[in-house]
Amino acid sequence: MRAPMVAANWKMNGSKAICREFLQHFDADGSLDVVLFPPFLYTSILIEGFAERSISVGVQNVSNVSSGAYTGEISAEMAVDSGATYGLVGHSERRNLFGESDGLVAEKFIACQRAGLTPVLCVGESLDERQEGRAESVVAGQIDVILKSVGIKAFANAVIAYEPVWAIGTGETARPDQAQSMHAFIRAFLTKSDATTAKNTRVLYGGSVNANTAAELFAEGDIDGGLVGGASLEFKEFAKICRAISR
Ligand code: PGA
Repeated sequence: MRAPMVAANWKMNGSKAICREFLQHFDADGSLDVVLFPPFLYTSILIEGFAERSISVGVQNVSNVSSGAYTGEISAEMAVDSGATYGLVGHSERRNLFGESDGLVAEKFIACQRAGLTPVLCVGESLDERQEGRAESVVAGQIDVILKSVGIKAFANAVIAYEPVWAIGTGETARPDQAQSMHAFIRAFLTKSDATTAKNTRVLYGGSVNANTAAELFAEGDIDGGLVGGASLEFKEFAKICRAISR
């Protein structure tokens, strides 16, 4: 059985004040995995503050290498050292705004697992790719690069987030049936390599999820939770989204 998971991707947003609001007012009941991905500078505050509660903290990015003369970079080992347990890799903003290639995404996925972080691999097609009928092949390609570098067994300790680029930050959530269809496709694609791993791998949906759209999305059979951007910065809204998943 796949445990439901709801993750907050704060992107380059947030502040100490927002961290304090979450620490004071936000909790999760243990029936789902809740992961917060704040900017690096705020990870320690949240890790220490949530130490007694069942809330995990992850990092939004890691370097592909472990240490050395790489000014400005942070390694997966450092993230683990500070208490983080998850790492986002392949987010479309990293791919598109920072030029991360499929190859670099694969290296970062490996770096996370080598250090002991669970990677959350983001995949998703652009609007053009969807309109050209290429959504499934694009997503399959993004997963295949990782499969070819690490093998299907590595997905036993990874999460996939399907985030159609056209739905991120646009207010245009994918319809539940549209998202479900891609999630089922992703699971079928993994099944070709290993049915058990495919059955157990969590596939989250991301792209303009909010408290009004979450329940319908999470009710779909292959949607195991969400990766939430804009709506995750306000603890009441994020708590409502977490409550929308019940399995
Ligand atoms: P959004 O972002 O919820 O603001 O669309 C989701 C994401 O990019 O992870």
